[in-house]
Amino acid sequence: MTRRSITDADVQRQRVLCRVDFNVPLRDGAIQDDSRIRAAVSTIEWLVSHGARVILCSHLGRPKGKVVDDLRLKPVADRLADLLGIPVTSLEAITGPDVTGAVGSMADSEVVLLENLRFDPREETNDPSLARELADLADLYVNDAFGAAHRAHASTEGVTHLIPAYIGLLMRAEIEALTKLLTGPEHPFVAIVGGAKVSDKMGVLENLLPRVDTVLIGGGMANTFLLAQGVEVGTSLIEADLVTTASGLIAAAQAQGVEIGLPTDVVVARSIDASAGDQVHIDSIGDDAAIFDIGSETAAQYADVIAGARTVLWNGPLGVAENPAFAEGTATVARAVAAADGYTVIGGGDSVAAIQQLDLASRIDHISTGGGASLEFLEGKTLPGIAAIPEAE
Ligand code: 3PG
Repeated sequence: MTRRSITDADVQRQRVLCRVDFNVPLRDGAIQDDSRIRAAVSTIEWLVSHGARVILCSHLGRPKGKVVDDLRLKPVADRLADLLGIPVTSLEAITGPDVTGAVGSMADSEVVLLENLRFDPREETNDPSLARELADLADLYVNDAFGAAHRAHASTEGVTHLIPAYIGLLMRAEIEALTKLLTGPEHPFVAIVGGAKVSDKMGVLENLLPRVDTVLIGGGMANTFLLAQGVEVGTSLIEADLVTTASGLIAAAQAQGVEIGLPTDVVVARSIDASAGDQVHIDSIGDDAAIFDIGSETAAQYADVIAGARTVLWNGPLGVAENPAFAEGTATVARAVAAADGYTVIGGGDSVAAIQQLDLASRIDHISTGGGASLEFLEGKTLPGIAAIPEAE
């Protein structure tokens, strides 16, 4: 199903309310990673070059309906202005007379950014009164905030019922890339699924199973699968209540002819902060040791499988990648995904960070800006921020 996109709209001289996801990591007021701002640039440039009056809006963090000075969007506006090469006016409110005045005096191709939407408690409750105030600022609405598309908030859902609504270029690219994985991917299709918890990824695994040829499992979640296979995992993080579910998934995979890759060797240590770990076979994990990475043999096997894939999805690190002692498994997989000839998609903050650290992002076909949103999309769920936009004619 194709959604109506900004390229279908005439935006010249129109006030366009554009919802973006500028939820970037900040430390002491400095932006740690501007990927999400960069990802929104093409839509904003398109609007500017077509003469729109661009009213950007975003959330930042979780201020829970209160003004939190550290979560103001001014640093984001400054970074965006650098990237666009034109001024971006940062407004100190979301709606109200000052905003109405500023928007009323905008010229064509001018850009303003409203204050953090989540300073207003009505945003997350999808309060119709906030949706109405936002809609009254504009003639058209564009949702380019894929990262927030799984939220039914006033700025992602409510407003779409009040003025003509479209998706932006980033949203379109995200939908196309993730849809390609779920509908007619080229085979072999290999999914690499990592991260700490099985519970976070079970929905995705279940939805992908009928579509993939191989699932390679790593990260903390692999421990529960190993336990389900009867491996003694020492003091490793496990989710005891999901051991039966993990066994069920392995059985379902077997029944559907899907290969499940589990570590055959691992890196263990007594503590997550250890400065080095030991490479051991999975049959030799000590009672007082915990798994913090896949081993080098496993990483090499996974890299071989990835090299032969026509479609690759990677979500979640294979080990505790923030500790260099346990980062090698993730790095090996990142290099293999970057080198793969097949169509490659990466989602999830930690896997994206790994690929960026290795300076390999440009070798990936699609890097999703969505965390929870891309997972929910891959689980096959309906994302309210997308569903609310009318279908293209
Ligand atoms: C994200 O970072 O995944 C999105 O910006 C959504 O943020 P939220 O989980 O706070 O709604």
